[in-house]
Amino acid sequence: MDKIMRLKALFQDVYKESVLLDTTFEELLVSINSFKKERKMDLLLLDQEQSDWYFKSNIVAMTLYIELFSENINNLINKLPYFKDLGITLIHLMPLLKTRKGDNDGGYAVEDYRSINEHLGSIEDFTYMLNIYRENGIYICIDYVINHVAKEHEWAKKALEKNKEYQDMFIMYDNDEIPNRFNQTVPEVLPDKYPGNFTYYSEINKYVFTSFSEFQWDLNFKNPKVFLGMAENLLYLANLGVNMIRLDAIPFMWKELDTSCRNLPMIHKLIEMLNLIKNIVCPSVALLGEAIVEPHEIVKYFGTSHNPECEIMYNANLMVDIFNSFATRDTRLIAIDTNLHHIPNTGSWMNYVRCHDDIGWGFNEEAIENMGFSSYHHKQYLIEFYGNNFPNTFSSGEYYQINQANHDARTNGTLASLLGLEKAILENDKFKQETAIKRINLAHGLILFYRGFPILYSGDEIATLNNQEYKKDPIKANDGRWVHRPFFDWDRAKKRNVYGTKEYFVFQTLKKMIQIRKNNAFFDGRNLQFSLDVQNQAVFCLLRRYEDELIFGLFNFSEHPQIINLDTLRQNVSSFQYEDIINGRKIDINEHQIELSPYEYLWAFPKNKECE
Ligand code: GLC
Repeated sequence: MDKIMRLKALFQDVYKESVLLDTTFEELLVSINSFKKERKMDLLLLDQEQSDWYFKSNIVAMTLYIELFSENINNLINKLPYFKDLGITLIHLMPLLKTRKGDNDGGYAVEDYRSINEHLGSIEDFTYMLNIYRENGIYICIDYVINHVAKEHEWAKKALEKNKEYQDMFIMYDNDEIPNRFNQTVPEVLPDKYPGNFTYYSEINKYVFTSFSEFQWDLNFKNPKVFLGMAENLLYLANLGVNMIRLDAIPFMWKELDTSCRNLPMIHKLIEMLNLIKNIVCPSVALLGEAIVEPHEIVKYFGTSHNPECEIMYNANLMVDIFNSFATRDTRLIAIDTNLHHIPNTGSWMNYVRCHDDIGWGFNEEAIENMGFSSYHHKQYLIEFYGNNFPNTFSSGEYYQINQANHDARTNGTLASLLGLEKAILENDKFKQETAIKRINLAHGLILFYRGFPILYSGDEIATLNNQEYKKDPIKANDGRWVHRPFFDWDRAKKRNVYGTKEYFVFQTLKKMIQIRKNNAFFDGRNLQFSLDVQNQAVFCLLRRYEDELIFGLFNFSEHPQIINLDTLRQNVSSFQYEDIINGRKIDINEHQIELSPYEYLWAFPKNKECE
C-alpha cells in the first residue's frame, strides 16, 4: 500500500473519535510536504543511497553526554581523534535539547524541541558539528523525548494558564477519582522518588499524569494535535542532519483506565505512523526505540517487515542475560532467548551491556521457571548479587528505587564496578583485577559478536569505576544513576596507550575486536544467528551464518576452566579447521572436546576465511 494511504488508514483508526481528525490529517500532510521540500541536498543524497546503513558491520556505537565528555558541542569536534582511535562510527548523544532549569532528569525534561541547551551550544554549532562528523564517516543519533515534556514547555505553560485547548494536550482530571483508579493498575516508575502517577496542581485545581516525575508531563496522544506537533518536531530534528533518532520511553505513550498503561496496542500504530512519516521525508534516518520492558514486548516494537515501527531496539534482554550469566555461571538464558525472538528483516538489535540508566531485572521469567527456579527469588538474587549484598559477590553495584512493599529494586553502577574491578582494586588484589578485566572483555566480546550492532557506554572502554562525586551536587544527589555518569576522565584515557594499565587492557582489546568486526562481512546485521548447546552451561555458543559459511563464538562465563564437547558443533559447521580471529588459537573440530580457560572467549572463523 502507498505510504500516505497507509498513514491515513492508521490515523483514521487511532483518531476516529476525534472531531479534529480530518483537519489535523490535512495539516499533517502539509507539514510532511514542507519538511520534505526543506530537506537539504546532501541529506537527500543520503536518503537515496543509504536506508539500511545500520546493518553494516562497521557500525560500532557509543553513548555519551556532551557535557560530561567534552563540555560543549564545539569541543566535541576536537574529540574526533579519540573516536577514530577506538573505531567508533555512531555516537548517541544524550539529550541536548533545551531542558528546564534545575533537575531535568539528565535532559529528559525538554522545554523546547527546537533549540539546544545554551551551555552546550547553538543549533548552528550542532549542524556544523554534524557536517564535520558526517565528513569523517561518523553517524549521529540524538534523543527525542516523545512521551512527556517539561512542565515549562510552551504547551504545559499554556495549560497552567487554564487554556483548555492546551490542557487537552495532557492527561488531567478535576478530582482524584480517576487518578486513584489509574494508580491501582499502573505501576510506579520511580516509587522511591516519585510515588504515584499523578501530580496535583492547585493553580489549575487538576491532577496531571506524570509517570516519571512532577516536572515531566505525559502527553495525551489521544489528541491528534499532540501527534501532529510531535511528528513535526521529529522531522525538524531529522532535517538538521542526524542519522538516528532515539524515541524515549515509548511503552508509556498510550493510557487506558484499568490497564497497566504499558505497551498498549495503540502505541504500535503511533510508532508505525511515525515510521511512515519519516520514510516519506527522510528514509535514511533510523528510528531507535527505547522500550526496556519484557522481552516479548520489546520485539513487537520492530513491527513487521511490511509495517515496520522502529528499525532498531535496545536489546535489554541480552544485557540482563549477560549479567545473569556472570552471577550464575549459567548461560542457558542467553541461549534460550537468542533462539526465541525473530525480528523482521527491517530490524536490528542494538546490543549493550551498560547505558546511562539503571539495570531493571527484566528477564524471561517463563524460562527461569522452566529451569526449576522461582522467578521472584531469582530476581532477588540478582538484585542482591549486583547490589553488593551477597556472600562473595564480585560486584560493587548499588540498589536503585527499592520498593519496600515487594523488595523489588534495580541496580546502578559502571560496567567495571559491576563486574568486579572496583572491589579488586580496593582489596589490592592483582589476580582479581585481572579476572574483572577478563569479565569486561568477555562482555564486550559478546556484544560485538552478537547479531545487530554494539553500543558502548562512554567510559566503559577505559574501565571507569563508580563515582560518588554526584552527591555533592544538589540537583543530582537524589538520583543514584549519577554514580555511573561521571565526568569523562581524560587523564585516565591517556593510560589506554600505556601497556600494563587496566585502561590499556580494556581499551586495546576492544579496539582490536572493533577492527576485526568492521572488516568482516560476517558481522552484517542481516546475517542470521543461533545458539547451540555445547553441553556445558557455563559456556555460551553462538553461530553466525554468512552465505554458506558459519562462524562461531564461545564465551566462558565462569572463573574456572571449562570443557566443551565439539560433537554438536561438528554437525553444524561448514569446515573443520577454525581459528580464533582475536588471539589466533586453532580449533580442530574433529577433536572430541576443547578446554576454555576462565572467562575465555573465542571468535572462531573457518581458517583463511577472515577479512572477506
Ligand atoms: C528513559 C531514559 C531515562 C529517563 C526516562 C524518562 O528511560 O533512558 O534516563 O529517565 O526515559 O524520560
